[in-house]
Amino acid sequence: MTTMTVIGCGYLGAVHAACMATLGHDVLGIDVDAGKVEQLNNGIPPFFEPGFPELLAEALKSNRLRFSSDISEAAGRTVHFVCVGTPQKRNEYAADLAYVDAAVNALAPHLSPGAIVVGKSTVPVGTATRLADIVTDAQPTAMLAWNPEFLREGLAVQDTLHPDRIVYGLPDGEAGETAKALLDEVYENALAGGTPLVVTDYATAELVKAAANSFLATKISFINAMAEVCEASGADVTKLADAIGHDPRIGRRFLNAGLGFGGGCLPKDIRAFMARAGELGADQALAFLREIDSINMRRRVRMVDLAREFFGGSIVGRRIAVLGLAFKPNSDDIRDSPALNVAAQMKLQGASVVVTDPQAVANAQKAWPDLEYAESPQAAATGADLVMVLTEWDEYRWLNPAEFGTIVRGKRILDGRNALDREAWRAAGWQYRALGRR
Ligand code: UDX
Repeated sequence: MTTMTVIGCGYLGAVHAACMATLGHDVLGIDVDAGKVEQLNNGIPPFFEPGFPELLAEALKSNRLRFSSDISEAAGRTVHFVCVGTPQKRNEYAADLAYVDAAVNALAPHLSPGAIVVGKSTVPVGTATRLADIVTDAQPTAMLAWNPEFLREGLAVQDTLHPDRIVYGLPDGEAGETAKALLDEVYENALAGGTPLVVTDYATAELVKAAANSFLATKISFINAMAEVCEASGADVTKLADAIGHDPRIGRRFLNAGLGFGGGCLPKDIRAFMARAGELGADQALAFLREIDSINMRRRVRMVDLAREFFGGSIVGRRIAVLGLAFKPNSDDIRDSPALNVAAQMKLQGASVVVTDPQAVANAQKAWPDLEYAESPQAAATGADLVMVLTEWDEYRWLNPAEFGTIVRGKRILDGRNALDREAWRAAGWQYRALGRR
């Protein structure tokens, strides 16, 4: 059992804290937001994440987990995870490290001899070396390690308890060995279960995360670029993805063409990576990521174009139902959500847009109060001239096209995620269109 803190209790930190307590560690979650701390202490998750409410309840009941907004309570604990956000800077591509710096600076005076600070936030390469100095200046026998996190929202609990791999970025020499032994204790369970471990230096550990997210973004934009060629040539991108995905070197996962990637990670991480490469004089190496970003953003524009094509060029005054607002299913996160972006664009172009989502309505309403919100797909689609499925929630995949056809004004459907059964919708008399398919 290790005594630890988890600083920053967002999607990453809160799930990490609860998972660590479930594994038997003694965990104090720390967040500057006192409201969030109170919610968490009462077992109320501040965000939607499948499996998290049960995990949090179990961890609180074990008495091995509590939350506080007082950083001085970190004193005396051995391991300190830094899980705060690194958003994109306003009007710049670079990552904003204000929260990471504030967390480490606030923690530093409370570090015990031999304690270890473990960075999990996604940071530009070079950050760990700088933070290590703050740690050792405050407490000469304390150490810093970099331990990137690869969890996916919607699967955060599973990804934290059963990660694909664990990466340690460690200082050289004896400090590195001590840090490794402490981290091995923390991850004892996963390591005993055979999870691969990669031990490396700070810079490589920081780059692993940037490289992984860039690869995933590239894979999605690759298939979306193919979708553009399919649209121009009358081919079908879903069949193309199936066919190339059978090659194990390529693989079918993350080859779903559609509205592209959004969320709190991929878009800002590839931009921060480009910005950092520029500072290092390696901008040419990542010039392709600019194209990845452009392909991705073009999908949103194309989606609105497809809506317009249904009505001979203008959506002014048309009633459009948008199903899905979260950046992906099983999440209430609307950060850089392609779905919400398209809904807002259509509203700005004069359509009457009614939106719905199983979980993300409350968050979307705060960002876009001007859209009309509905409780269910049926309520949204009543009297609609066009229905658009923009986030592939399971409950939208299995809508009954015949039943749905009786509530709309026009049987037109746009499948923004290639998630629907095209033949079933066409058989029920709908005009069906999707990105990358005839
Ligand atoms: C991502 C990484 O997957 C994760 O490892 C990292 O830790 C954080 O960033 P997440 O943001 O939760 O996780 O979402 P992810 O499942 O990767 O999806 C990102 C976006 O890509 C979503 O908008 C999704 O709809 C889109 N996507 C995904 C596609 O458009 N096509 C695909 O085939 C897969």
